[in-house]
Amino acid sequence: MSEWNKKQLKVVLLGNSGVGKSSFMNQFVNHRFTSMYRATIGADFSTKEITVDSTLVILQIWDTAGTERFQSLGNALYRGAHCCLLLFDVTSGASFSALSGWLQEFLLQADPPDPASFPFVVVGNKTDLENREVSCRQAIEWCQEVGAEYFDGSAKDDINVDKPFYAAAKAALQHYKKHT
Ligand code: GTP
Repeated sequence: MSEWNKKQLKVVLLGNSGVGKSSFMNQFVNHRFTSMYRATIGADFSTKEITVDSTLVILQIWDTAGTERFQSLGNALYRGAHCCLLLFDVTSGASFSALSGWLQEFLLQADPPDPASFPFVVVGNKTDLENREVSCRQAIEWCQEVGAEYFDGSAKDDINVDKPFYAAAKAALQHYKKHT
C-alpha cells in the first residue's frame, strides 16, 4: 500500500457527561463494555486502523470529558480534527437538546476551513434501554437540518458502534479530498 493510500484522521467524540462516549470508544477499539461509570478527566485517546475505500485509515480517537468544567480544554482538543462524532443518550432528552451547543462550540474552537460542510456524525446511544425519550425520527430530522449522518446504537450491546466511525472516516476523506 503506497503512502498515498494511508491517512491519519483525528476524530473527536463530544456530548454530555454520561451519554457513553468512553464506552463507545472502548467497544470500538477494545470490544469491551463495563457498566461502571468513571468520568473522563480532560481527555483520553486511542487509535485504531481501519480500511475505508481502499485507504488505510489510522483513526486517532479523542474522547473528551462531557463535564462543563473541562470545556476550557476545548481549543487544544478540537483543533486539527477531521471529523466529529456527537453522542447523546436516547433516554435523555436533555442530552439530545444539548447537541446543537456541542456542534457550535466545536466549530468555534476547531475553526475548520469549511465549517458549513464539516463532517459530523451523530449517535443516539443506549438503545438497549426501554425508557427511550428521543425517537429515531426526531434525531434524523435534526441531523438533516445540520447535514449530519445519524445512527441509533448501543455501546453495551455492540449495535452500530463500528458504523458511525466508518461513516465519519469516509466523510472526512471525501471532505479533505475537496480541500487539499
Ligand atoms: P463523561 O466521561 O462524564 O463525559 O461520560 P461518557 O459520555 O464518557 O460516558 P461513559 O462511557 O462513561 O458511560 C456512562 C455510563 O453509561 C456508564 O455507566 C456506562 O456503563 C453506561 N453506558 C454507556 N453506554 C451504554 C449503553 O449503550 N447502554 C447502557 N445501558 N449503558 C451504557
